[in-house]
Amino acid sequence: MSKSSELKSRKAAAVPNGVGTKGIYVAKAENSEIWDVDGRRYIDFAAGIAVLNTGHRHPKVMAAVAEQAQAFTHTCFHVTPYESYVRLAERLNALVPGDFAKKTLFLNSGAEAVENAIKIARYHTKRSAVIAFSGGFHGRTLLTMALTGKVMPYKRGFGPFPAEVFHALFPQPYQGVTTEQALADLDRLFHADVDPKSVAAIIIEPVQGEGGFNVAPAEFLRALRRLCDEHGIMLIADEVQGGMARTGKMFSIEHAGVTADLVTMAKGLGGGFPLSAVTGRAAVMDAAHTGGLGGTYGGHPISIAAAHAVLDVIESEDLCGRAARVGQKMRSRLEGLAKQLPRIGDVRGLGAMVALELVKDPKTKEPDPEATVSILAQAEARGLILLSCGTAANVVRLLAPLTIPDTVLEEGLNVLAATLQGVLGAEAARAVA
Ligand SMILES: Cc1ncc(COP(=O)(O)O)c(C=O)c1O
Repeated sequence: MSKSSELKSRKAAAVPNGVGTKGIYVAKAENSEIWDVDGRRYIDFAAGIAVLNTGHRHPKVMAAVAEQAQAFTHTCFHVTPYESYVRLAERLNALVPGDFAKKTLFLNSGAEAVENAIKIARYHTKRSAVIAFSGGFHGRTLLTMALTGKVMPYKRGFGPFPAEVFHALFPQPYQGVTTEQALADLDRLFHADVDPKSVAAIIIEPVQGEGGFNVAPAEFLRALRRLCDEHGIMLIADEVQGGMARTGKMFSIEHAGVTADLVTMAKGLGGGFPLSAVTGRAAVMDAAHTGGLGGTYGGHPISIAAAHAVLDVIESEDLCGRAARVGQKMRSRLEGLAKQLPRIGDVRGLGAMVALELVKDPKTKEPDPEATVSILAQAEARGLILLSCGTAANVVRLLAPLTIPDTVLEEGLNVLAATLQGVLGAEAARAVA
């Protein structure tokens, strides 16, 4: 029995069913490669779900963590604070778009950042309602599950959810939802379900992650900004997956030239260590009473040290420029494949957040989750780790570390091409026969 098979059995016996995993048990990881417990090498196009923008074990991140561990590990910022937390807040206040004074709060996970952004928006506006979008994903806590617009696997069986959360359509041109329709849907919501003057916040991922790498058009984000200004609503950009250079800019909302009132970050910020943040207008961030925000581990010194190194690396290695180049390479390869394989219905994304949508028939655009499962499994058998996404689980997403060497990127794309040709080409041939 291989070590991986043995671990799969032990996992099945010891860990709840609800915790889904791939079957690759990692022994070692370096930049964009992973080796499993049986010595098999994999190219990592998942990056710990968009966490390792700076790659596995970036030397500068590891050095910063080691240095911090020599000084102190945990004191709790509320008990005995430390300078590195304040300095990271200063850095993010300067980096997050917006020509106004900002403040930053640190937490542990993306869900916790979103929860806190909503708490802050509610406190500031003295309103309770929140609008989120279909296909959006904001986390697995009760409030963030309520905000999430994707039932499986996130919401089924876990309700009831907190009240005062409403969903509007996210523009998705490939599936027939235009920006105009999405805006009309918001208008409908304001007339049928919730008074805009009761809305504390509109939360949006400028590029949906779990929802299928749908990119919000700039005019849609600009229209949301106008609506928020008109009605005194806080605009929250959830940059947990699309932030930290992933899309070719530090924050994905920058592509639209729109400023959010509050921005949530996590994943890539900690370079592999748990850290999340909410950065926003100082007046809004300051609304809550002293002691109303925080937590035992929020802004853990080790994670904060890692994040300083991450920001240094993003700048010194020009990871925004690199994301644009990696994304361009991925896209041109996938677009070429889509011409040969019509069941690749759509290739989309922003920067190095690239995805392909699989359909049973390009005319009907009926989602093909089965082909998606086969592609992931066969890519894995060939040594490439991929993730799916999309509300119909029919989108393959590419999230390679931005530090991936060109040769490894090329190798990964070759494996992906062979896999797509193997699954979709063989089926196309069978259909013709
Ligand atoms: C956009 C977005 N928001 C929030 C979250 C939740 O983050 P976490 O899993 O760290 O709680 C995620 C996680 O995938 C995400 O993609």
